[in-house]
Amino acid sequence: MPILSTTDLDVSRLCLGGNVFGWTADEDQSFAVLDAYTAAGGNFLDTADVYSAWADGNSGGESETIIGRWLAGRGDRDQVVVATKVGMLAGFGNQKRDTVLTAAERSLKRLGVDHIDLYYNHLDDPNTPLEETLAAYDQLVRDGKVRYLAASNFSAERLALALEVQEREGFAKFVALQPEYNLVSRDEFEGDLQDTVAKHGLATVPYWSLAKGFLTGKYRPGVEVESARAGAASKYLDEHGLQVLEVLDELAETHATTVAAVALAWLAQQPTVAAPLASARTLEQLSDLLPVLTLELTQAEVDRLRAI
Ligand SMILES: NC(=O)c1ccc[n+]([C@@H]2O[C@H](COP(=O)([O-])OP(=O)(O)OC[C@H]3O[C@@H](n4cnc5c(N)ncnc54)[C@H](OP(=O)(O)O)[C@@H]3O)[C@@H](O)[C@H]2O)c1
Repeated sequence: MPILSTTDLDVSRLCLGGNVFGWTADEDQSFAVLDAYTAAGGNFLDTADVYSAWADGNSGGESETIIGRWLAGRGDRDQVVVATKVGMLAGFGNQKRDTVLTAAERSLKRLGVDHIDLYYNHLDDPNTPLEETLAAYDQLVRDGKVRYLAASNFSAERLALALEVQEREGFAKFVALQPEYNLVSRDEFEGDLQDTVAKHGLATVPYWSLAKGFLTGKYRPGVEVESARAGAASKYLDEHGLQVLEVLDELAETHATTVAAVALAWLAQQPTVAAPLASARTLEQLSDLLPVLTLELTQAEVDRLRAI
């Protein structure tokens, strides 16, 4: 299993996304997915305080609560790496000291754990001095409530600045970045951001690794997809998206695997990427993703997909 950059966290090659828990997957479905994922060797869970606030009747924290109940009832806390985030929940939508410290306490409570393995700054907050924000994260590490820190949705410039502040002040440093990155959405990450991550020895944990479902191959011309994400995912169904699907179809056949697993393996084999992050709301969906735990594309296959 890959080690997450400079940490001692040994993570599986697929990080399981938690934004479906309490949204498109109810508690029973979520437990089943968590059981099957860990039984297959997966150990890296991703959630956030804000998940899944967008579902009817929810207010946020539902995903953490489900993971917490699963950990208490059937999971093995010491066998999983639990990542969560602060900064997008209503009332906690900034990176001020009090917000970060209070949100962490609430996440610990909902998760039912005494520490968070990887704690993300979910969204860069340009209105709060980085010194204030990063001192709060550092305090969480010193207090033993968080093991490692990470950033999400940062520009290259702001990430470099944050790392500089952490270095200068002697604070615990970010060890990973969670950006949007997948085969049909590459521009934002490749280039300055990826270079900054590489230069500072961070790991990348890309989100929307399946482009919200598009890279499973279920969105095709003339096909109606029943999904809460259909509107967002079908926007990738253009000429470029179709070219990507054509090569994914071929490589999936070559490796006798799924389109989704090939798309995830491509991501896993990109520089700095430790583990692509993807969600599944059913066991059937999960079983299409799990081959990425061992699937290796040849360099020629990786290059071919990159060239599209
Ligand atoms: N840091 C951030 O700002 C941020 C932002 C977004 C997400 N995230 C994290 O990244 C994770 C992954 O992102 P995501 O879940 O939004 O999108 P994603 O992983 O790109 O797409 C997952 C969705 O694709 C569909 N799917 C998965 N496997 C499938 C299969 N085998 N066959 C058909 N459809 C399948 C399911 O949706 P349907 O069945 O509903 O179509 C599933 O929920 C999240 O869970 C969250 O933890 C982080």
